[in-house]
Amino acid sequence: MIIEAEDLRKSFKATKAVAGVSLAIGEGETVGLLGPNGAGKSTTLNLLLGLVTADTGQVRILGEDTRRLSDEARRAIGFVPQEYAFFPELSGLANVTYWARLYGLRRRALDTAVRDALEFTGLWDRRKDAAKTYSGGMQRRLNISCGIVHNPKLLIMDEPTVGVDPQSRNHILDSVRTLSAGGATIVYTSHYMEEIQALCDRVVIMDGGKVVADGALEKVIRDNTDERVVLLETPSPEAARDATDQILRHGLLAAAETDVEGSTVVLRLPPDADFNDLAARVLALGLTLESIGERRPSLETVFLTLTGKKLRD
Ligand SMILES: Nc1ncnc2c1ncn2[C@@H]1O[C@H](COP(=O)(O)OP(=O)(O)OP(=O)(O)O)[C@@H](O)[C@H]1O
Ligand SMILES: [Mg+2]
Repeated sequence: MIIEAEDLRKSFKATKAVAGVSLAIGEGETVGLLGPNGAGKSTTLNLLLGLVTADTGQVRILGEDTRRLSDEARRAIGFVPQEYAFFPELSGLANVTYWARLYGLRRRALDTAVRDALEFTGLWDRRKDAAKTYSGGMQRRLNISCGIVHNPKLLIMDEPTVGVDPQSRNHILDSVRTLSAGGATIVYTSHYMEEIQALCDRVVIMDGGKVVADGALEKVIRDNTDERVVLLETPSPEAARDATDQILRHGLLAAAETDVEGSTVVLRLPPDADFNDLAARVLALGLTLESIGERRPSLETVFLTLTGKKLRD
């Protein structure tokens, strides 16, 4: 195991930020950590890294107690914190060099690593400019360069794409994919479900300081939603409205269970309904349909079911 955490707890005065979190993360996994604001994600990451002392519980990271990490283990870990961790007055180059030195890189290896990290995030051309003159997206990317310069075996990223433009976001996502393909273990926090769905093979959902779901992405989705939606594609919005009228008139579903989105009719199946049965009865109405299918529930639905909250601020 790369990370083993057992029953972590951390309170700040009356706030139970982390209230009993256990996690086991294996080599090469890409784990998405999701949760609403204040769920305890950042505190959990800080506990894993030993940056915050737990009230109770233990963490082993790369096989070592996180409170007493060897230099070797430290150098195998990269952290991209939610808050910027660079000096605004210094250039991008000086910042990444600073972190590379801290991680023990010297001479040729240092120069190469710094250049790679800046090229990796597309900042090499702007390396000589002060970090404070960078755009928000560039500052996020610099933050990432600082965290990955030593080519860590374990990379922990706390909301690396917050407030960046789509171009920078894609660049960041590609970088994470490359690191993952290279065998790194990645723990990734984001408010964007589609990022987690695109990057991670495992998802951990937190709420109120606790883990409320943990498993393979597909399994977490399957296990945590009973939402079933049937989509009828029709040739036009008029045809969609007409189809809905027919369905209601024949009493196949109640009005609250139907919706029209453009030329698509959206049918929400009641818990006891059978998809095939409903499909057969819809087809028997002789509607003009282009297709009929079932929509797979998304991580978004699961998240809403589990936490009762929309993820985005
Ligand atoms: N240093 C601190 N002092 C006091 N309270 C804190 C501290 N750090 C975190 N908290 C509180 O602990 C709870 C969990 O915070 P945390 O930052 O871990 O949440 P999060 O899931 O990362 O949220 P976000 O999505 O907003 O980043 C919050 O109620 C927060 O206010
Ligand atoms: Mg946070």
